[in-house]
Parts: sequence; structure tokens; C-alpha cells
Amino acid sequence: MLKAVMLTGLFFLLFLTGVTESREEQKHISDEVSSEQNCSYQAVLNHLKMTRTNELYSMTRPVRNYRRPTQVSLEVLLFAILDVVEKDQKFIPFVWTVMRWHNEYISWDRNQFCGIDNVSLPAETLWKPDLTIEEMIERDKAPATLYITMNDKGYVEYHNDLVLVSTCRMRVYKFPFDIQKCNLSFKSFSFTIKDIRLQPSDNSSEATEWSRELMRTQYEWLFINLTVIAINGTKPLDQDVIVYTITMQRRAALYIVNFLVPVLFFLSLDLSSFLIADNGNEKLSFKITVLLALTVLQLILNEILPASSNRIPLIVIYCIGIFGLMLLSLVETIFVMYLMDKDSVSQDETDQDGSLREDYNKHSKVHFSSCHDELQKWTRATFVYTVSAGETPPEQLPVVKQDNGCKLTEEYQALERLSDALKEMEKTLSLLLHNRKDEEKPGYWTRVAKRVNRVFLIFYVTMVSVFLACIFINWSIP
Ligand SMILES: *[C@@H]1O[C@H](CO)[C@@H](O)[C@H](O)[C@H]1NC(C)=O
Ligand SMILES: *[C@@H]1O[C@H](CO)[C@@H](O)[C@H](O)[C@H]1NC(C)=O
Ligand SMILES: *[C@@H]1O[C@H](CO)[C@@H](O)[C@H](O)[C@H]1NC(C)=O
Ligand SMILES: *[C@@H]1O[C@H](CO)[C@@H](O)[C@H](O)[C@H]1NC(C)=O
Ligand SMILES: *[C@@H]1O[C@H](CO)[C@@H](O)[C@H](O)[C@H]1NC(C)=O
Ligand SMILES: *[C@@H]1O[C@H](CO)[C@@H](O)[C@H](O)[C@H]1NC(C)=O
Repeated sequence: MLKAVMLTGLFFLLFLTGVTESREEQKHISDEVSSEQNCSYQAVLNHLKMTRTNELYSMTRPVRNYRRPTQVSLEVLLFAILDVVEKDQKFIPFVWTVMRWHNEYISWDRNQFCGIDNVSLPAETLWKPDLTIEEMIERDKAPATLYITMNDKGYVEYHNDLVLVSTCRMRVYKFPFDIQKCNLSFKSFSFTIKDIRLQPSDNSSEATEWSRELMRTQYEWLFINLTVIAINGTKPLDQDVIVYTITMQRRAALYIVNFLVPVLFFLSLDLSSFLIADNGNEKLSFKITVLLALTVLQLILNEILPASSNRIPLIVIYCIGIFGLMLLSLVETIFVMYLMDKDSVSQDETDQDGSLREDYNKHSKVHFSSCHDELQKWTRATFVYTVSAGETPPEQLPVVKQDNGCKLTEEYQALERLSDALKEMEKTLSLLLHNRKDEEKPGYWTRVAKRVNRVFLIFYVTMVSVFLACIFINWSIP
């Protein structure tokens, strides 16, 4: 009996200890649950009573008193310069924007929630300032950021990446050595300064430095700096505007190699064509070919530059100027060829003159020679006469001995001398005549053409140098 009582007591004890043990276990578990209870993001949301459809957070500007404007600070960094289309005056940057503002309904004690100090949640859950960019002409194509981050003090941060297709007035006067400044003006779409005050969170030097570090691609452009200007709300708009001005410089090397230098090559070809002989049509066709080649380059230029630039770009002046100079040299060549042609026509005329003169020469020659013949005949006759008179063999010159013959020979000698003089005269005359002809042989007009060519070459080289100097000085001054 006692034994039985003791056994049941033992069992009871055992049972009791088991129960207390399990109770302690349970207590331990419930403690753990309660300590992890506030460690989830959802706990924070539950604490804030924030759901996807809670209108308190998503519908209205989050202020407890409507008179207090929401201070929005904006940070804009340039991530890439994707494209610049001069023809359409389009500028496509990839920018990185961060907006920060205070939501007065959000706050929690981070110590109550396992030290959670920030929560990310779907972007549509919270109210956001409706910032827009004045210059934007197309909706951005980059996917909108899905999440928005809030912290325990109620500060909300919204990151967004934008591929902006914006309009920008390009100044192409100095193309391809131009520096472009494109504005991105951020402002609220519908709120005035009573509701939203905008302020930049970086100054210009910080924005420039950060953008330089972030910059991924710059296309053909070299990023120079990013200027931030805050314009406080003024009467007509009553809105704060932050203007970010992106300054960038074109990398001109490719344009120099592909455009400016070839034009100079054509110009030097044109200059070298002065070495080609003027007669013949090769020079003319060569010059026309070079001129046409320049026209092709001009057509390319037409496709790059916008028609809207009210100041004629220097590069167009450069092209047209060189085209004009080459045209001038072409016209000069045509003129010179015309002069030469004129000369060849007059040459034909002089040829006729020449034949006349030759006829005359022949006549005179005949005359002279007939004179000479007669003279000789005559002298021979006298000789024969002296021979017959003196009866001496003709081998022994009778002239020396005979008085008669001597007289005659003196006459003969005088005649001979006259004939020689006449011959000499004829020679000099014909020489003179020939000389006159030789002088006229290259033609008066050819000489004029040569002179025109020489003068024009000097003029042309001077013009080209002055023109190029003017253009390059204009290009180099900032
Ligand atoms: C968990 O949050 C509630 C309020 O939602 C708070 O009363 C409680 O003390 C918190 N628990 C701990 C362990 O911090
Ligand atoms: C958000 O909280 C995480 C973890 O506590 C921290 O690493 C991060 O820096 C916080 N972010 C911001 C923006 O406060
Ligand atoms: C950019 O904004 C500044 C400041 O408002 C203004 O002076 C400048 O003319 C603007 N530039 C262009 C290209 O619109
Ligand atoms: C921009 O801000 C930095 C730090 O905030 C400061 O050191 C610098 O002087 C500022 N620059 C200008 C131009 O205000
Ligand atoms: C940005 O660069 C332009 C051109 O070099 C210069 O005129 C301007 O002063 C610069 N702005 C700043 C903030 O450095
Ligand atoms: C614009 O307003 C801010 C305060 O919101 C002030 O600090 C700043 O000096 C003002 N700037 C101008 C140009 O009035």
C-alpha cells in the first residue's frame, strides 16, 4: 500500500517536472518570437499602417499643414552623352536624378524595429514631386525605377535614371571646333512655390566632379562641366527652376581628317594644276574634276549641319570660299585658253602674211640672182672681149697686163664688190625680215596669256593664304 502511494507520488513528481520543463520551453519560444516580431520590414509598414492603397501616403502632399511647402532637393548627374544631332537640334543625355523630400507622416523608432532605419517599397506607394524637364521632347525610354526608399526620420529618396531626348539650340558657327551648352531645366509640372520649393543639393563643382567620375560614354563629345543654377520662383511662373547646363566640346579630330584636310588636298591639287601646260584640254578637265570632288564634300556637309543656324557656319564659308577660289582659277584657265586660241587664229593669218613675204623674198631673190647672172654674163662678155683683143691664152690672166682689161677689171671688181654688198644687204634684209618673224612666232596673245597666268598665280596664292588665315583665326578665337 505504502509502496503504491510512493510510486504514484514519484510519477506525480515526474509528471510535474515534465510539465514545468515544457512550460519553460514554451516561455523561451514565445520570448524569441516577441523579440523577432519587430525585425521585419513589414512590421515597420504595419506600424505605419502603410498599404498599397493607403491614400494617406500616395494621394496628397505629405504635410500636416498645407501652408508648409515641401522642400525638394534635387541632385542630377550626367551618366553619358548618348547622342547629339545637330540637324534636329537634339541632345540625348543619360542622367541620373535623385530627389529627396520630407514626408511628415513617416517616422518610427529604429530601436523598436531591430534597428531598421530605412525601407524600400514600390514607388507608387508614396507621393512624389512631379518634376519635369522643360527641354524634354520625348518621354524617356529608360524603365522607371520601381522602388522608393524612406528612412525613420521620414525622409524619402527617389532615384531615377532618365534617357532624355531634349531639345538644345546648337551653335554650329564654329563647327567642328564648337562647344555646345545644353540646358536641362527641372521644375515641378503643376505645383507652385506655395507647394514645392526646389533646391539643388550640389553646387557646380561637385556636380562636375561627380559626373566626371560617373561618366561612361561620351560619344564624340568631351564633357567639360556641369553648371547648376537655381532660379527662385518669380511672378509669372511662380515656380522654382533648377537649370543644369552641360558644357561639352566636340572631338574634332575625325572631322579634320575626313573633311578639312581633303578640302585642302583638293586646293593643293588645283594649285599644282598651274604646272600643267596651257595648251590642250587636260588642264581644264582636271580642274573641273577637282571642283566636282569638292562638291561631293559639300553635299556631305549639308547633311550634318542644321538649316536653322542663322549665322552661316565657318565651315560652310571655308568650303564655299575654296570652291569660289577654285572656280576663279578655272575661269582664268578658260580665259587663258581663249587667248591662246585667239593667237592660233592670228597665227594662221600671219602664216598667210608670211607666205606673201616669202613670195616677195623669192621675187627679190630672183631679181637679185638675175642681176647677178646678168652681171656675171656681162663680166664674162667683157672678159671674152679682152681675151680676143689681147690674144693671150685665157689661163694667164690678161687682166693684169692689159690696160683696157685692167680698166674693165676694175669696173668688174667694183661691180663684184657692189654685188657682194648687195648680197650682204640681202642677207641682212632677209635676216631682219626673219627676225621680225621669229619675234612674232610664239604669238602676241600667248605671251599675254603667259603673263596673265603668272600674275594670276601670284594673286591666287595670296588670296588662298589670306582666306585660309582668316578662317583659321576665326576658328581659333574662342
Ligand atoms: C514592437 O513594436 C511595437 C509597436 O508596433 C512596440 O510596442 C513593441 O515594444 C516593439 N517590440 C520590441 C521588442 O521592441
Ligand atoms: C538602409 O539600410 C541599410 C541596412 O541598415 C544600410 O546598409 C543602407 O545604407 C541604408 N540606406 C540608406 C539610404 O540609408
Ligand atoms: C540656359 O539657361 C541659362 C540660364 O537660364 C540661360 O541664360 C541660357 O540662355 C540657356 N541656354 C539655352 C541654350 O537655352
Ligand atoms: C561646393 O561645395 C563644396 C563642399 O560642399 C565646397 O567645398 C566648394 O567650395 C563649393 N563650391 C562652390 C563654387 O560653391
Ligand atoms: C564651364 O566651362 C565653360 C567653358 O569652358 C566656362 O565658361 C564655365 O565658366 C565653366 N563653369 C564652371 C562652373 O566651371
Ligand atoms: C532662393 O531661395 C533659397 C531658399 O529657398 C535661398 O537660399 C537663395 O538665396 C535664393 N536665391 C535667390 C537667387 O534668390
